Amino acid sequence: MKIINNGNLTIEDINQEITVYGWVNKRRDMGGVIFVDLRDLSGIIQTVFNRKFLKDDFKIAENIKNEYCIKVTGTLQKRNESEINKNIPTGKIELIANNLTVLSESETLPFNIYDDKEIDEQIALKYRYLDLRRDKLKNIMILRHKVNKAFRSYLDNNGFIDFETPILCKSTPEGARDYLVPSRIKKGSFYALPQSPQLFKQVLMVAGFEKYYQIAKCFRDEDLRADRQPEFTQVDIEMSFVNQEDVLRMAEALIKHVVKDSVGLNVDYDFPHLTYFEAMEKFGSDKPDTRFGLHLNDLTEELKNTSMNVFSSAIKDGGIAKCLIVKNNKYSRNEIDRLTEFVKIYGAKGLAWLKYDNDEFSGIIAKNLEQDIQTNIKNKFNVENGDLVLIVCGSPKVVYSSLGALRLKIAEDFNLILDNTYNFLFVTDFPMFEYSKTENRYVSTHHPFTMPESLDKLKTPNQCLSVSYDMVLNGYEIGGGSIRIHEEKIQGHVFKALGISDEEAELKFGFFIDALKYGTPPHGGIAFGLDRIIMLLAKTDNIKDVIAFPKTQSATDLMSDAPNEVDINQLEELGISIMKEDICD
Ligand code: AMO
Repeated sequence: MKIINNGNLTIEDINQEITVYGWVNKRRDMGGVIFVDLRDLSGIIQTVFNRKFLKDDFKIAENIKNEYCIKVTGTLQKRNESEINKNIPTGKIELIANNLTVLSESETLPFNIYDDKEIDEQIALKYRYLDLRRDKLKNIMILRHKVNKAFRSYLDNNGFIDFETPILCKSTPEGARDYLVPSRIKKGSFYALPQSPQLFKQVLMVAGFEKYYQIAKCFRDEDLRADRQPEFTQVDIEMSFVNQEDVLRMAEALIKHVVKDSVGLNVDYDFPHLTYFEAMEKFGSDKPDTRFGLHLNDLTEELKNTSMNVFSSAIKDGGIAKCLIVKNNKYSRNEIDRLTEFVKIYGAKGLAWLKYDNDEFSGIIAKNLEQDIQTNIKNKFNVENGDLVLIVCGSPKVVYSSLGALRLKIAEDFNLILDNTYNFLFVTDFPMFEYSKTENRYVSTHHPFTMPESLDKLKTPNQCLSVSYDMVLNGYEIGGGSIRIHEEKIQGHVFKALGISDEEAELKFGFFIDALKYGTPPHGGIAFGLDRIIMLLAKTDNIKDVIAFPKTQSATDLMSDAPNEVDINQLEELGISIMKEDICD
């Protein structure tokens, strides 16, 4: 059995005969002496092979290559003063080998393990087991373990019970597409992989468990982004007899504990609360990055009566106008043109701009915009020489999303984001519904089991808020939840507002509606996106870095080559045939 951790050896251990195991990180052949940096999970120890003391084993040492897995026995010694390596913790000692065994050889590597040079992502994912040997991923995986452990210990100490809920289950309505699994026994029927354990955790409240948690795998077949995977992990929590304040207090204390325990960071402030509306108005986003200012400013009042039709007619049609003030602008004309293209991605028709230099505005719209409006803008936002005003006018949705995205781009371009800052906050009071033009009906912003602000407000779905909340960190949504409906009657009203008929509700969630009939306690909860939290604590912006075996943009595992075609017999057993035109290369 391996007893020694190479990286933990110290000067206190010298003069002992020990056996170390590991991988050849680097090998230097100095003629009669060969130095091998031997790496295990804990770190590196330098081993020394000297022709004088070794006979056959020296020949073996001459032939070993990087990443050979070996066993070395020898005596630990102090290095000469001139040979001390200050870059590694074991730099003052080395193992003078008297025995070497090659446990297994390694083929030539597709990339170096010992350096941190960027590698082509396709190659890195194909050889994930080699990438996981490198320091970056290795350290993130260890961090992941610590974060998991911290979540579990806090929840366990606070009376939460750890559950497992099914993976083969009925579709859960979280808004994404389901991954389906065909049933062999009931041909033509399908299980859905859970998008979250939402209904199960609510049923566990009905069952009287009061405080539930689970580190749960969730599956969503949706377009992937840098912070989204088709298969991800939630720390899922539910509590009975609570209101929103109770859940948020618990969530804040929990996350402070996790951050302290895993990376030693003391978050010593109370998390600010913003309503959804405030977040959109000020930051153009429901997951605002509050590490820098650059707020959205309102110009609707100023521009509603201008003779410039682009603004006034859009505002008459229910639109709004907002601007960002870029202090000490460094964007050139060409760069501003590129910003215009950028906001168009978000549906904006254009980006109007005013430059303030030598105590006056310049730019195309400065010629047409009334002087008193220009003065108002200058005074209202304290515009100074060198500043740039960027304006978008249109529907609230377009204005928020385009300026929200532009705000982030400017922060990046001008380096406005402070490193090592963790800005947590809660966003509350989300709209209960969104109107879906494709489905021609209201859909839930969160999910259909979320408590509306009142029964009365359900009559006007476009104005109804919900008792729901997200936790946000540095511009990422790291958790979300709500107080749930615990009365069958209210649930019925919500289904009605969503255009879900009694038959459809019965078919989709009949078991759940039944459960609500048997003394359901008031309850609520939250689910944290574990991968996203680790991503932020590890200071990476790629969710793949924090998952041992992640999927690519096209939801493929390049190492195991999943998904792949299956045997025709397997399909026949399931009663499935594939249409020829649907087969991808
Ligand atoms: P929600 O859908 O907001 O809520 O998910 C909770 C948190 O999970 C993370 N998350 C993801 N992380 C990586 N990849 C994805 N594709 C992905 N999708 C979501 C986010 C998000 O905040 N059942 C409810 C929770 C509840 O109401 O208690 C739910 O799943 O960080």
